[in-house]
Amino acid sequence: MGSQAPIVIVGAGQAGVQIAESLRQQGYDGGLLLVGEEPHPPYQRPPLSKKWLTEPGASQALSLRGPEALSRRRIELRLDTRVLAIDRAGSRLQLAGGEELRYGQLALATGARPRTLSLPGAQLEGVLALRTIGDSLRIGAAIRRCAAEQRPLVVIGGGFIGLEVAAGARKLGAEVTVLEGLPRLMSRVAAPIVSEAFERVHRAHGVNLVLGAQVAELVGHEGRVQAVRCADGREFPAGAVVVGIGVAADDALAAAAGLACERGIVVDECARSSDPAIVAAGDCSARRLADGRLLRLESVHNAVEQGQSAAAALMGHERPFRSTPWFWSDQYDVKLQMVGLSHGFDQVVTRGDLERPAFSAFYFRAGRLLAVDSLSRVQDHMKSKRLLDAGLSPTPAQAADANFDLQSVLQQARPATADGA
Ligand code: APR
Repeated sequence: MGSQAPIVIVGAGQAGVQIAESLRQQGYDGGLLLVGEEPHPPYQRPPLSKKWLTEPGASQALSLRGPEALSRRRIELRLDTRVLAIDRAGSRLQLAGGEELRYGQLALATGARPRTLSLPGAQLEGVLALRTIGDSLRIGAAIRRCAAEQRPLVVIGGGFIGLEVAAGARKLGAEVTVLEGLPRLMSRVAAPIVSEAFERVHRAHGVNLVLGAQVAELVGHEGRVQAVRCADGREFPAGAVVVGIGVAADDALAAAAGLACERGIVVDECARSSDPAIVAAGDCSARRLADGRLLRLESVHNAVEQGQSAAAALMGHERPFRSTPWFWSDQYDVKLQMVGLSHGFDQVVTRGDLERPAFSAFYFRAGRLLAVDSLSRVQDHMKSKRLLDAGLSPTPAQAADANFDLQSVLQQARPATADGA
């Protein structure tokens, strides 16, 4: 009776953990419950398609926060717990198994799920997708089997996941075919100049890269995938298939509870959903910008930034999303770091070596810097991030000049003051 219902956070990934910890940092002293459907304590997903895929270790190595670290902050963790429904009128959650949980306020951080192929053969054994620790272990094992049996791995989708898996598979000695539906790689996030550089890198590493591939069917034998057939009749033999064709925001709970959803749970700049008592953050959300557009980002940075906003909103404060979005990908020895959103650029200039590749592409609209993609140019990335966060822009000529120090734009904008007055 008298005891106050806790704040409940549904989803124990990057965004969920961030909301919980930010609430404590912002002085929330009440009950706090983090509910996760997976059996593992909160872990980092990015390594699952990168280093961890080729060199898996103990799952603790991926840990985001161990149960002890959470309990020190009085964050109660309930794993292996699936929330089936939200009863907004009664401020309750219905759990699988019949239990009900009361909440004072609610945060949704339910993440995203890999899109699946709706094609004949998509359910065959050996057709895999990557989202969880278990998925990464299964794909690593399948790659090793392909290498041992000298059967190719076929990757469907030339986005971040598909290309990182392709690079890992080459490292483990498997033959790799990548089938990308569009005419260039990573087109959701990357501009053509970056797509082309990665096309060269993958081909140089021996990947059989097929652009504009219309996958029509996965062909099996005795229930196991054997090949991938395209609409033009070409057939690619496969020891296993990894499907990396994007993710869809997991907004099912929110939608069923009547919250506004559109490609994700619609939130404002402060992570508030259409119900003032409910916030949402991370991959599950879609942010309504001031100009009315809807922005969906899938990244660790987005989860952290929105998680902080969501915690502030639960405390009754407004903390709008401020910093410039950034993303990264590791493929072979090339580190891709992207800051800002290049969509809508009208000019691009580069500095560095396009062939190696070790260059940065600077995207401008009407002479103002929008975004910078850096390939193995960490300093460019860090400095560009500071510029974009400060709303500053070099000129295109300065950006293209490798001898021009980007940092100096920041220093000029903030001339040293004689004293602190
Ligand atoms: N056949 C071939 N390619 C396809 C098909 C199809 N039927 N459908 C989609 N694709 C291609 C898209 O054109 C795109 O290039 O699959 C690619 C998917 O790329 P992303 O959208 O980047 O998704 P994915 O690589 O699965 O990554 C999912 O994980 O690492 C994170 O930030 C990443 O949030 C993203 C998520």
